[in-house]
Amino acid sequence: MLSYQHGFHAGNHADVIKHIAWIGVLEHLKKKNKPFTLFDTHSGAGKYQFDDAEMRQNKEFETGISKLGSFSETSSYLLNRYLDVVEPFYKQQCYPGSPVISESSLRDGDTLHLMELHPAEFAKLQRVMKRAHGCHLHKRDGFEGLLALTPPKPNRGAVLIDPPYERFQEYQEVTRAVKKMYEHWQQGIVVIWYPLLSARAGKKQGASEAMYQQLSDLAKTSFVAELIVEDVKDDNGMYGSGVCILNPPWQLDENLQEALQALSAALGEDISTSLRWLKREGE
Ligand SMILES: C[S@@+](CC[C@H](N)C(=O)[O-])C[C@H]1O[C@@H](n2cnc3c(N)ncnc32)[C@H](O)[C@@H]1O
Repeated sequence: MLSYQHGFHAGNHADVIKHIAWIGVLEHLKKKNKPFTLFDTHSGAGKYQFDDAEMRQNKEFETGISKLGSFSETSSYLLNRYLDVVEPFYKQQCYPGSPVISESSLRDGDTLHLMELHPAEFAKLQRVMKRAHGCHLHKRDGFEGLLALTPPKPNRGAVLIDPPYERFQEYQEVTRAVKKMYEHWQQGIVVIWYPLLSARAGKKQGASEAMYQQLSDLAKTSFVAELIVEDVKDDNGMYGSGVCILNPPWQLDENLQEALQALSAALGEDISTSLRWLKREGE
């Protein structure tokens, strides 16, 4: 059953940290003049209008992108890069999803595979991406598609895994898919977004933390970066979120650390951020 619609959450604090981290990876891949391939296993609708009914319902973008909406230069190169990507969309009263963000980094010869299972979200994605070059749209399960389409040729590239985690099993599905992927594509950089959940989430509380510990065994190096927007209380559900990055590019940790510091200054006093290595080279 697919009930999740990203329109209710687009542009919120979770999208902000996820998209900053992903742009950090894209910037690294663009440094070399060699083609790369990107995989987005859970693409969503591609772009979200602030005046859509879903966006208007909870106005979650007010916890994220709206707080950064002055788009003035910050002390962080990576946060500035994120703002450069998002600003043209924000001026048109919309927020770009990961497919549009990835597409903005493609050069001639680069490839983007977008997977989305929800029929209505897939139809929107097709409309949003209809003029995009180098993009392949797949109405299929993202985990199954990832294993079928990897390793890419040439084998430089990265994967964004951003499931809704509506089902408890999704945490295990992420670990299983990444484990299998690394059996045939060790070079892949993988970014996995996860929610930080309080006791209200029942058995899902602690599932993200268990998942990223298991994921850290699968690659040579890994770290997690988190953005916490509320004190943890039994009844507040998602109090923040994070990204687990496997095989992170050189200096992404420093760039992301700087971006998170600048981000917390912009988002407000109650925000805290962290970046922790799970596994370093040779450990
Ligand atoms: C969190 S949203 C994606 C947001 C998007 N990555 C972004 O950052 O803009 C998750 C999406 O995954 C889709 N989805 C859920 N299960 C899926 C599966 N097994 N394979 C592919 N897509 C799936 C949902 O329909 C939803 O659109």
